Amino acid sequence: MEKPRISPYIYFIIILVAALGYGFYLYQKQSDHVSELLELADVQERKIAQLEGIIETQANYSNSLATELSAEKNRNEEFAQQIGEIAGTVGTLEKLSQTDEELLQKYSKVYFLNEHYTPSHLSQLENEYLYDENQDQYIHSRVLPYLEDMILDAKDDDVTLYIRSAYRSFGTQSQLKSNYSVTYGSGANTFSADQGYSEHQLGTTVDFTTTGINGGLTGFQNTKAYEWLRNNAHKYGFVLSYPPNNDYYIFEPWHWRFVGVDLATHLHGGDIYFYDMEQREIDEYLVNIFD
Ligand code: DAL
Repeated sequence: MEKPRISPYIYFIIILVAALGYGFYLYQKQSDHVSELLELADVQERKIAQLEGIIETQANYSNSLATELSAEKNRNEEFAQQIGEIAGTVGTLEKLSQTDEELLQKYSKVYFLNEHYTPSHLSQLENEYLYDENQDQYIHSRVLPYLEDMILDAKDDDVTLYIRSAYRSFGTQSQLKSNYSVTYGSGANTFSADQGYSEHQLGTTVDFTTTGINGGLTGFQNTKAYEWLRNNAHKYGFVLSYPPNNDYYIFEPWHWRFVGVDLATHLHGGDIYFYDMEQREIDEYLVNIFD
């Protein structure tokens, strides 16, 4: 009996089914792998998002720390500035407490210095500065260097400044005024202060004379010395107390008072006189009078 013959189509179908099955198997496997990869990508994405959140939180935290740090720095700077200001004020007050408050008062018929007032320190002037070497003269010790500088610089400019009178005590002024009153009667009040009202009692004031007027005072306004003082005395802290037509005394071109370089320069620049200023304005210069 003839063996039934298997059709080649059957083989073909079997092979096709097997191929399709294997293809499907491969496809399934690949598809599973893709799903796994997608899942992994999803997990990674979530992790990245989480990390980004953490980074953002940290960045915000850093920003707020930086803001706080900057505010703290500003507070510290303000504090340091306040401390500096307080230290400056304390320094100024301490300096003021050590400065004789009488030195910038208006003594011409306005304020009164009692008989016990004497400058804190007086220095004797060298004979070379005096017109009359037989009459010792004294000056406030802290004014001395300014006065010496002024006289020596004037000399360099070929100008001679001699001191006729400097510090005068309450008693000396009293005696002087009595003598003038005997000679001039009430006329003495036009050029001589009563005791207690003279700037000379402060030890900061000098009367100058120069060559060519026999050591006198009259005619001083026409000398080279007066001209030099008008242009330069402020640089050494000295000012003319009694200009022409002042409210207190006759014009006294020889009478110069030390008020400190700052105030003297201010007066010179504004072409005003010491007695034209308000006392409260003058007082602001006291702390720097010897600077
Ligand atoms: N000669 C001036 C005014 C005085 O005596 O102080």
